[in-house]
Amino acid sequence: MKTANFAQKPVLIGQKVILRPFEIEDAQQMLNILADPEVRRLTGSAENDSDAQAPMSEEERERTLAWYGSRSGRGDRLDLAIADRESGEMVGEAVYNEYDENVRSVNFRILIGPAGRGKGLGTEAIELFLRYGFEELGLHRIGLEVFSFNPRAERVYVKSGFVLEGIKREDFAYNGEYIDAKVYGMLRSDYDKMRKGSL
Ligand SMILES: CC(C)(COP(=O)(O)OP(=O)(O)OC[C@H]1O[C@@H](n2cnc3c(N)ncnc32)[C@H](O)[C@@H]1OP(=O)(O)O)[C@@H](O)C(=O)NCCC(=O)NCCS
Repeated sequence: MKTANFAQKPVLIGQKVILRPFEIEDAQQMLNILADPEVRRLTGSAENDSDAQAPMSEEERERTLAWYGSRSGRGDRLDLAIADRESGEMVGEAVYNEYDENVRSVNFRILIGPAGRGKGLGTEAIELFLRYGFEELGLHRIGLEVFSFNPRAERVYVKSGFVLEGIKREDFAYNGEYIDAKVYGMLRSDYDKMRKGSL
């Protein structure tokens, strides 16, 4: 089997969202999204409330701008911008990284800023991204981790067909409190079963 083609950056169109390659102009908007204290807390980018609310340093801003300016040139991972079809606004990102060619596995992550949350965009974005991962990239396994203080994300992952595989006890700390990290995964066989069930 050929290696998964991450160099090609697709446009995935749903009813509510479009997933598309990052463009240079998106970098500034991603800075705003990543400055959201809730995004910082739930993605493990901050260790306490004051950290989550602190403005980004100039160096961090420069690094982030360069990061989003370079996503579309990467052949070893897939980073797509999530746009809300109704408003036209870019609201977040979906990512496959840490590709293991031998297992054909990736790590998955997603984040949506305040403007896009709670409207079903995440659910649809994940459905489109999973379909692309299994059916076009030919992945065997998609894994992720979610903190136990993030029941919304967990709900969306379970609804999307991810299976709980284990718990990394007290793997993170926020405001000095230990937090578990839950490990979820989906195999191609889980995906096929789910698709069959929904037909
Ligand atoms: C996680 C995330 C991608 C979900 O996307 P979204 O567009 O907000 O989610 P949706 O609107 O599609 O669905 C949310 C679901 O969670 C449910 N939900 C919301 N708050 C909840 C809570 N506190 N407990 C349990 N379920 C909750 C909703 O009812 C809905 O489920 P339903 O459709 O069965 O009613 C998005 O909220 C996000 O990026 N959050 C910030 C960063 C983050 O948490 N990233 C993931 C890190 S692992």
